[in-house]
Amino acid sequence: MDQAYKKLIDGNKKFASDRKIDDPHYFKNLSLGQTPEYLWIGCSDSRVPANEITNTVSGEIFVHRNIANLVVHTDFNALSVISYAVDVLKVKHIIVCGHYGCGGVRASMSNNSNGFVDNWLRHIKDVYLKHKTELEAIADMDARADRLTELNVVEQVKNLCKTKAVQKAWQEKRLMVHGWVYGLNSGLIKDLDVIHDEITDIEDIFRYSNYE
Ligand code: CO
Repeated sequence: MDQAYKKLIDGNKKFASDRKIDDPHYFKNLSLGQTPEYLWIGCSDSRVPANEITNTVSGEIFVHRNIANLVVHTDFNALSVISYAVDVLKVKHIIVCGHYGCGGVRASMSNNSNGFVDNWLRHIKDVYLKHKTELEAIADMDARADRLTELNVVEQVKNLCKTKAVQKAWQEKRLMVHGWVYGLNSGLIKDLDVIHDEITDIEDIFRYSNYE
């Protein structure tokens, strides 16, 4: 039986003891509650941990991750996270962060089947189709995947802005939505400058006139 999991328990003991050495009240303070200012919607990829790559600590970022950082309007998991973060925690920023070299994005560009996950990746194929002309003008497949990664983030940001929770918070002028892409090669985040903070940023058909 593989014992590799024990590394995590041992790592946790070291984590807990190191934090207590730095600040004896660290866990007591954290246990009192959370007031994060950010909601992070990122990819499940093990190489893109929200806190680590933003040099933040426990309590600073509310996190939702799934394969290829999608915001799907029938995904109760994501919608619950968004609703709780915006309505209850009152985060000030939501960041959709994709990453170059995303396996989900790459797989969506292929005709190969990858099993059940294909159902999820279908959403990225829709993004591809929407931007087919631009994407197929890029001959290099890595560059094309990079561009699809960016366009996917832009589309997911739009999906996010179509939610009632986001629009309500906009009306109260307390929320900004951002689209970023993280570079696995460089360790750096690229801001796609797709900041949205008002109702006119989305097409009319998606705007709510009330928030019941
Ligand atoms: Co990914």
